[in-house]
Amino acid sequence: MEYVTDFKRHRRLRSSKAMRDMVRENHLRVDDFIYPMFVVEGSNMKKEVPSMPGVFQVSLDLLSNEVKEVYELGIKSVILFGVPNEKDEVGTGAYIETGIVQEATRLIKREYPELLIVADTCLCEYTSHGHCGVIHNHDVDNDESLELLAKTAVSQAKAGADIIAPSNMMDGFVKVIRQALDEAGFTNIPIMSYAVKYASAFYGPFRDAADSTPQFGDRRSYQMDPANRLEALREAESDVEEGADFLIVKPTLSYLDIVRDVRNNFNLPVVGYNVSGEYSMVKAAAQNGWINEKELVLEMLTSMKRAGADLIITYFAKDAAAWLKETN
Ligand code: PBG
Repeated sequence: MEYVTDFKRHRRLRSSKAMRDMVRENHLRVDDFIYPMFVVEGSNMKKEVPSMPGVFQVSLDLLSNEVKEVYELGIKSVILFGVPNEKDEVGTGAYIETGIVQEATRLIKREYPELLIVADTCLCEYTSHGHCGVIHNHDVDNDESLELLAKTAVSQAKAGADIIAPSNMMDGFVKVIRQALDEAGFTNIPIMSYAVKYASAFYGPFRDAADSTPQFGDRRSYQMDPANRLEALREAESDVEEGADFLIVKPTLSYLDIVRDVRNNFNLPVVGYNVSGEYSMVKAAAQNGWINEKELVLEMLTSMKRAGADLIITYFAKDAAAWLKETN
């Protein structure tokens, strides 16, 4: 019998590496990456986070070396998280001039002025209760927290941060922070808003790294329900109106549909935060020899770009930067 042959020959465009390279639609570049770093108070400390192999808490005196490695790999941006020695009810360490993130920012800017510093603007690493704002009647008080977040943003900008990234999920944070930055003369400092941030179990390892686990309750009254999709658009919409310059979607891997929704509905750069749990799952499988780490990570990061992310905050930034150098 004769078979029909009048079907589409999709394999034509896959026939050789050169052909596949020619028709590839999405590309990973080192410019896409923002590398998260955890800076601790104290000295001579470089401690691996047990649940995040390859990720370290580093003290200020050792920070230069770490940043040098990042910089030499061609990575152009880092996001800083602070781990202070002392915490209190109102997260003072987040907004004092001598705060750990402020100190780290000044130090990095002195040595690597072109490296873009993104400051995560939140209180949870600095509050004794571990919540992202101040507590009243066992809940986070939205409007009172805004004032402290605005103070935090301004102090980070004063220290030299290039981009302010509020991650606290209080309503109105972009508006209040924009106003405070403008009044302090920082009209040129952009806000990279954690516009869409879900209450996710994928943040577990980060909370070990940043020592920011809530001491009671959870974050569900301010972070989003993972079951919701339209709510993400409402969150992004208000942040755009309030003056955000970038929109973060977090987590990313289980939320690629949301990345695409945000990409399709808004015209700002979209940032995927490839969070700690996404990193740790891959690392654990890789350590067991169950997956090919390099191929899997590059595929995962590429899928985030395909979904619509322009930038990716990722703990894999150093590995990926090195792998991209190898393959190109
Ligand atoms: C602070 C903050 C968190 C993350 C980034 N900023 C933790 C949280 O909301 O509990 C998580 C990042 C990660 O898991 O990699 N609010």
